[in-house]
Amino acid sequence: MSRLLLRLLAGQLTRSEAQLQWLRSAPRRSIIDLSYSAHLMDFQRSSIPSSMRKLVATKLSQNFREAVSLQTVPVPTPGDGDLLIRNRYVGINASDINYSAGRYDRSVTPPFDVGFEGVGEVVGLGLSASSRFTVGDTVAYMSPGAFAEYTVISAKNAIPVPSARPELLALLVSGATAHIALRQLGELKRGETVLVTAAAGGTGQFAVQFAKMAGCHVVGTCSSQEKVEFLKTLGCDRSINYKMEDLAATLRREYPRGVDVVYESIGGSVFDLAVNSLATRGRLLVIGFISGYQSASGLQPVRGSTIPAKLLQKSASIRGFFLNHFLSDYNNSLRSMLELLTAGWLVCKVDSGERDVGGCFMGLDSVYRAVEYMYAGHNLGKVVVELQNNRKL
Ligand SMILES: NC(=O)c1ccc[n+]([C@@H]2O[C@H](COP(=O)([O-])OP(=O)(O)OC[C@H]3O[C@@H](n4cnc5c(N)ncnc54)[C@H](OP(=O)(O)O)[C@@H]3O)[C@@H](O)[C@H]2O)c1
Repeated sequence: MSRLLLRLLAGQLTRSEAQLQWLRSAPRRSIIDLSYSAHLMDFQRSSIPSSMRKLVATKLSQNFREAVSLQTVPVPTPGDGDLLIRNRYVGINASDINYSAGRYDRSVTPPFDVGFEGVGEVVGLGLSASSRFTVGDTVAYMSPGAFAEYTVISAKNAIPVPSARPELLALLVSGATAHIALRQLGELKRGETVLVTAAAGGTGQFAVQFAKMAGCHVVGTCSSQEKVEFLKTLGCDRSINYKMEDLAATLRREYPRGVDVVYESIGGSVFDLAVNSLATRGRLLVIGFISGYQSASGLQPVRGSTIPAKLLQKSASIRGFFLNHFLSDYNNSLRSMLELLTAGWLVCKVDSGERDVGGCFMGLDSVYRAVEYMYAGHNLGKVVVELQNNRKL
């Protein structure tokens, strides 16, 4: 410690560097804050380390590797209403690169924490939070900063779950988006035709299933035969591998009346095609536009000038959906989906990278690879990363 102090005084280290080095050299703690000693003991009675790793956006860029770096920092201490979560699984979302590019909230400037969702165990908590939670509880959450070995979240954002299963992660953002968007904006009626783009992906798999549950005929687009087979298992009535079949020609030929609802995630030319494919009184739900996210603007051009005429001619509508604007529906939606999952009526397909050349996504370093895997269109279902090392701590 005294050597550290000398280096600090000599200006060889900044205060935070000295602090971090001291934390690393200190023996492992069982208790972070003595005032909360009963709550800050790991539930297996193993110690919580002093330092941890997390991903931090240090500059704004849609290139995730460029924007985000892996850092070693002190394990955060929960405040009065907070939980300290040891993350077991974290979820990858297409918008992880929108977030690192600063497109979500222009007021957020680097450095900032990344990752939208996690599942893990409560290993510490504040006094107020202890009225609802205890050490050892398993919770899921949707809150920024999930790409970390430990994350502090407000107890208000914690969803108690029976165990830390990766399937639960698929529901938090991806499932909830499909569930709420189709309910609130889809106005699905039995017998209608619903087109789902990126149908075999994280949110698409749920859109297919919820549209089927509503009694609709579902058409799903995807990029491989393996995905076509997966979509069949979900009950998708017509799966179109757009690499093998011409999507526009297939829709024109097989659905000449048009489709009633589109759950659209791709943008650019696929969005244009979706507008053209709407039936009279059709509803196009804009869920995303992933084809543009890797570009500087985040957008692919669309044929905007013709849209008013096309909508008017069909009394059709285009409806934007952003999950954060529907949080009042969130808890009910999650409850419904958990019931369906427990009853065995909902498939939550998870992709842990088994088919990736680099192998399963394990540890924070593999978040980069998992993002790239999704952007290469290789994923079947929800991409998840296991933070395996945590279990050993
Ligand atoms: N509005 C909201 O609140 C909200 C919430 C969650 C997600 N989303 C949106 O939902 C969409 C899907 O997100 P997700 O996280 O669930 O991802 P995902 O569907 O699991 O993965 C992305 C999939 O998009 C397809 N894709 C087609 N063209 C692509 C391209 N040019 N680049 C990359 N992928 C392409 C790929 O499937 P194929 O190769 O099979 O086509 C890929 O597997 C995104 O647009 C996302 O922004 C919106």
